[in-house]
Amino acid sequence: MKKALITGIRGQDGAYLAKLLLDMGYEVYGADRRSGDSGNWRLKELGIDKYVKIEYMDLLELTNIRHVIAKVKPDEVYNLAAQSFVGVSFEQPILTADIDAMGVLRLLEAIRDIKPDTKFYQASTSEMFGKAREVPQNENTPFHPRSPYATAKVFAHYTTQNYREAYNMYACSGILFNHESELRGLEFVTRKITDAVAKIKYGIQDRLVLGNLDSKRDWGYAPEYVYGMYLMLQQEKPDNYVLATNETHSVREFVEKAFLVAGFEIEWIGENENAKGLDKKTGKVLIEVLKEFYRPAEVDLLIGDYTKAKQKLGWEPKTKFDEIVEIMTLKDLERQSKNI
Ligand code: NAP
Ligand code: GDD
Repeated sequence: MKKALITGIRGQDGAYLAKLLLDMGYEVYGADRRSGDSGNWRLKELGIDKYVKIEYMDLLELTNIRHVIAKVKPDEVYNLAAQSFVGVSFEQPILTADIDAMGVLRLLEAIRDIKPDTKFYQASTSEMFGKAREVPQNENTPFHPRSPYATAKVFAHYTTQNYREAYNMYACSGILFNHESELRGLEFVTRKITDAVAKIKYGIQDRLVLGNLDSKRDWGYAPEYVYGMYLMLQQEKPDNYVLATNETHSVREFVEKAFLVAGFEIEWIGENENAKGLDKKTGKVLIEVLKEFYRPAEVDLLIGDYTKAKQKLGWEPKTKFDEIVEIMTLKDLERQSKNI
């Protein structure tokens, strides 16, 4: 039985990856920084909270990491833990760097010292492309990070690559474009939208307040992306791979589609920060824009080229934009109808 240690087990990707590996017969250990039982909702929704072995581990604490690696002796480590919200990284840049950059170094050092044959996956991100130098972006596109989150992730990405080259460790980096799901955190724009649409439908919320409606993302479906992470660790040699859909859509399109799933047709008036979205039938304002939700530096357009992953891993995205919006909105409508 292979042993996998997943950091960030209680996050969106951690939960889906744990389910996948358990289904494959792995013994799954989850590193948890003691967020309490309320943080367990994703593992519960997937019905796996009883099957994951929790180890208390914080990426800020080196001795703690070393103890867990020595105790579990994992065959594979998937490092998904991060302060993953770009917006907050502008408010907490030092904490973000400590977790997302130095935390990865701590983990790699512990593995190198204690169990260097461990296969390691690092959760890199399309945010590293930032002010993108080319369209679409692939594994060789230069980085131009636009947030403290992205600069920390660039450090972690190069550190992972360096441990591969310097110490011959099996260390992979998955450069993943945005991936969403019913288990996405409420702070991210997609789930913020689908949750609000459902609450507006059931009369619990009046309107949805957003930031930049015109930024564009390459949104894929999270369960398919965690399968790509697993595939990266099953190859003969470690490498970097982009996972994406090669399609891009704006926040505005996501809003329109999600409201449509709930039976509202949106009509826009005004531009940029003065934009408003009205219910075409009643004229009621359902969407407003607030400067507060804009970022000091924005990533305007992301679109990924996953050719390498397709050729070398046989990985391809299946669920595309319309279906993702529908799955997420229907799930939030169901949650509201059951008052969950
Ligand atoms: P997420 O839902 O925000 O989960 C992140 C997890 O990291 C949370 O469970 C959190 O624990 C944990 N964590 C935070 N700080 C920690 C610390 N100091 N020590 C230990 N654990 C800590 O993120 P996600 O969407 O699943 O993303 C997984 C990873 O992929 C992240 O590294 C993210 O940056 C990266 N990524 C995500 C996407 C995407 O679109 N989802 C795309 C590219 C890359 P708590 O539960 O205690 O808060
Ligand atoms: N969160 C949020 N809230 N974003 C908004 C809002 C709002 O009210 N209004 C507009 N946006 C815009 C943001 O400015 C950004 O351009 C876009 O919506 C997506 O924002 P997020 O959903 O917060 O995701 P992200 O793209 O910044 O980061 C996510 O994807 C990265 C991969 O590219 C996170 O999962 C990161 O951890 C991940 O690395």
